[in-house]
Amino acid sequence: MSNIILAIESSCDDTSVAIIKDANVISNVVATQKIHEEYGGVVPEVASRKHEENIVPTIYQALKQAEVKLADISAIGITRGPGLLGSLMVGLSFVKGLALSLEIPLIEVNHMKAHVLAHFAELPHPPFPFLCLTVSGGHTQIVKITDYDQMEVIGETRDDAAGEAFDKSGKLLGLGYPAGPIIDKLAQKGVPRFKFPIPKIPGLDFSFSGIKTAIRYFLRDEIKKNPNFLNENMEDICASIQTSIVNFLMAKLKRAAREHNISHVAIAGGVSANSHLRKELVNAADKLKWKAYIPSFQFCTDNAGMIGIAAHYKFLKKDFAKLDIAPSARLPISKN
Ligand code: KG4
Ligand code: ZN
Repeated sequence: MSNIILAIESSCDDTSVAIIKDANVISNVVATQKIHEEYGGVVPEVASRKHEENIVPTIYQALKQAEVKLADISAIGITRGPGLLGSLMVGLSFVKGLALSLEIPLIEVNHMKAHVLAHFAELPHPPFPFLCLTVSGGHTQIVKITDYDQMEVIGETRDDAAGEAFDKSGKLLGLGYPAGPIIDKLAQKGVPRFKFPIPKIPGLDFSFSGIKTAIRYFLRDEIKKNPNFLNENMEDICASIQTSIVNFLMAKLKRAAREHNISHVAIAGGVSANSHLRKELVNAADKLKWKAYIPSFQFCTDNAGMIGIAAHYKFLKKDFAKLDIAPSARLPISKN
């Protein structure tokens, strides 16, 4: 008989529900909370309220698309952290009641592990060990993966995340939120002719606050000289910002692969949807004889499909959660 897992992700501003049948993602529905665009960033209290509204209809939609009934579900996978506490609380409280009423086990999932394990939703699967650059709105990590549940962070950001660098730069340019995809689109028509210094951070760690400050002062000085500077150069500015961020990410990823002698290299998280990063990973793989793993778009940004895949591997080991687990805003990758 097949294992069918219902997975729910509610760690930030997207409510997502997926149905996973024997490690295959059958449906993966994401209810995006557009309301945060008005505020230029995620408002935690608003996000929690929207999750409350979205969770039941999104579950029904995921079940319908998968042609599965609640009674067919073998277990429920849920994000326990890291993320916004209120948002996590909505998902976790809901599934506790659901698991209890359906008399099925609950499986807790670490959101950052799930971004990495999204690579097992599609073929080819990376073999162990592999490296994964996980880049999202809240995190920037280089992770060494030796098994489904064995992950070590070997480099991470000391301040802003890569996605935040895109979003905050976009705010300075007057673009909408989230700015990452908008910058990506505009950059495709631009030339990266403005140079922003790559921060000198030792080892495999990152820092993005310097790039953001350099962009702020660069724009201030150029707009002083030419008030139309932004409008006249928007595409080139976006291409320059994107190139700086991606060059920094790729430099550290190459160093990590060299130092750890690993040639299977993956990217994950919202920023892995970036077209320039995807291209640069392929270029590096050609040059350095790596095998590159790039998720399809539905598995880059937050989605419950990746939570379900992570839950699947725990289900096989009967690694079930107690019903008294609490959400954890700062859950480290070494835990759960
Ligand atoms: O993984 P994700 O959906 O949520 C978090 O866990 O944070 O990542 C969202 C982040 C945002 O900062 C967004 O601007 C960025 O991913 N992003 C992109 C692109 N698509 C999403 N950044 C650059 N280029 C993109 N195409
Ligand atoms: Zn995420």
